[in-house]
Amino acid sequence: MDALSRYEPIVDDFEAFRSACRRPLPPVVRVNTIKTTTERARQGLQEAGIELDPVEWHPGLLRLPEDQPGANWPYSHGWIHGQEEVSAVPATVLDPQPGERVWDATAAPGSKTTQLAALMDDRGLVVATDNNMGRLSALRSNTERLGVTNVAVTNEDARNHSLKPFGGELYDRALVDVPCSCEGTIRKNPDTLEEWSLGHVEGIAGVQKGILTRAIQATREGGTVVYSTCTFAPEENEGVLDHVLEAEDCRLLNFELPLAYRDGVTEWDGETFDPQVERAKRIYPHHNDTGGFFVAKLEVTG
Ligand SMILES: C[S@@+](CC[C@H](N)C(=O)[O-])C[C@H]1O[C@@H](n2cnc3c(N)ncnc32)[C@H](O)[C@@H]1O
Repeated sequence: MDALSRYEPIVDDFEAFRSACRRPLPPVVRVNTIKTTTERARQGLQEAGIELDPVEWHPGLLRLPEDQPGANWPYSHGWIHGQEEVSAVPATVLDPQPGERVWDATAAPGSKTTQLAALMDDRGLVVATDNNMGRLSALRSNTERLGVTNVAVTNEDARNHSLKPFGGELYDRALVDVPCSCEGTIRKNPDTLEEWSLGHVEGIAGVQKGILTRAIQATREGGTVVYSTCTFAPEENEGVLDHVLEAEDCRLLNFELPLAYRDGVTEWDGETFDPQVERAKRIYPHHNDTGGFFVAKLEVTG
């Protein structure tokens, strides 16, 4: 837990934060509206003898009592998908529309890809990229089970993503749910901080800068890019946003979020970031009893 101490200056009620990080997370499933409705999924789970609680801010998310979201018939039928509550935030912020072209730059195992497809009524195109073949197999099997048909998969480094296989046209929107130091997943994976190092944080921030840069360049002027991580480190998060605000044609947008959050921080460890980073949102475990997350919405301006 020591790595978390560095966040004491920026996290309010730090003891509540620490204690929330020690509690396990309740399992949550997302209803797959490509195959069913929230009402039918709720009935199916109840028929299977599974009690559930609604998640207040999102009607399609259901909290289950046991850690077995895969062991029931509604799951096998592709009516539901296990997805942590905060992990459903980035796709709702991106808000893709049916018929659009969307790039999911770091997509595997596909929780957000399949959520994007559902938000698009399975129409238009989602290009799902990942550089890890094993994780892409999981993505493929998730898209099949959930009945998604508008997804094309590419196995490549997102920093060098080519538009050519898809006609060369820029995207309307891109989701950049990057690899990160994963500090916010500690409630799900208590060992996650055992291998923490500042060197890893700084290294992965460099990868994130490259992927976010490519996503901005691959999205049309006026298009939307959402950047998200499941970590607290400002060297990633605000540091990465500061870099692209300086180097690329983009700006950060304000957006609504139906969860408690704190604004992005403009200063960290002697560094000052572009004031726009305040428009990003930090979601802490003790505010909504969730995992930790960071989300920012950008508009491409050139
Ligand atoms: C946070 S996970 C993505 C989770 C996914 N969006 C979901 O909701 O299921 C980050 C992903 O980025 C992939 N990745 C890491 N470096 C990459 C790169 N340079 N290009 C493309 N994908 C990369 C990892 O293999 C991993 O699957």
